[in-house]
Amino acid sequence: MKIIVTAGPTIEPIDPVRFISNRSTGYMGYKIAEMASRRKHAVTLISGPVKLRSPEVKQFIQIETAQELLRTLKTEIKKANCLIMCAAVSDFRLEDTAKRKIKRKKGLSVKLIPNKDILKELSLHKKSNLFVGFSLETEDLVRNSCKKLKSKNLDLIVANKLSKTHNPFGCKCLDVVIIDRSGRKIYIRNKSKTYISQVLLDKIEELWYQKR
Ligand code: CTP
Repeated sequence: MKIIVTAGPTIEPIDPVRFISNRSTGYMGYKIAEMASRRKHAVTLISGPVKLRSPEVKQFIQIETAQELLRTLKTEIKKANCLIMCAAVSDFRLEDTAKRKIKRKKGLSVKLIPNKDILKELSLHKKSNLFVGFSLETEDLVRNSCKKLKSKNLDLIVANKLSKTHNPFGCKCLDVVIIDRSGRKIYIRNKSKTYISQVLLDKIEELWYQKR
């Protein structure tokens, strides 16, 4: 299969020096890309800025902002069978980015405007390819993730809980629930991101070969 994996955060500039972003390390997406490549899939890894070395993949593309990610995906998706959207896309960007460094002053207000929902935008033109999303929720994990699966027209969603005792950012082991369109759930408890990648890829391959 031709698989696109997106990973890491997007960053949204305030001025040439500063930006807003999130805590994504990119580790999960990089693991999925590595494991998919080992299974001989043709992988394109599209990554936001992270401190990881790219695994051996067919193509590696670096992006910074959500708008760049959307532009890149609009081209790449035409060649792909599957999109695994692991990137932590910033939901907001600055309405105006300063061209020069903003000097120190007593206070600074910035206006944030919403970025496009990339998965929703791309899935409008979805054909036979598979779309996999990730969700991060602090409450009602399964219910909210099922809503996202439907509203973004996904085939699978990997639901992650964020709580005081369970923080997926940068941790080695995770609890996740993989949910498909018919509501079937695979519960995975306290397993490595390598293990989770393998279960996810098994499920993607199963869905893909069912469609053939
Ligand atoms: N996503 C996207 N475009 C965005 C935001 C998120 O394509 N602007 C994708 C993410 O890559 C992920 C999925 O949508 O695969 C769910 O992301 P999540 O942050 O959990 O949800 P949001 O859609 O941003 O909704 P909310 O933040 O309100 O929970």
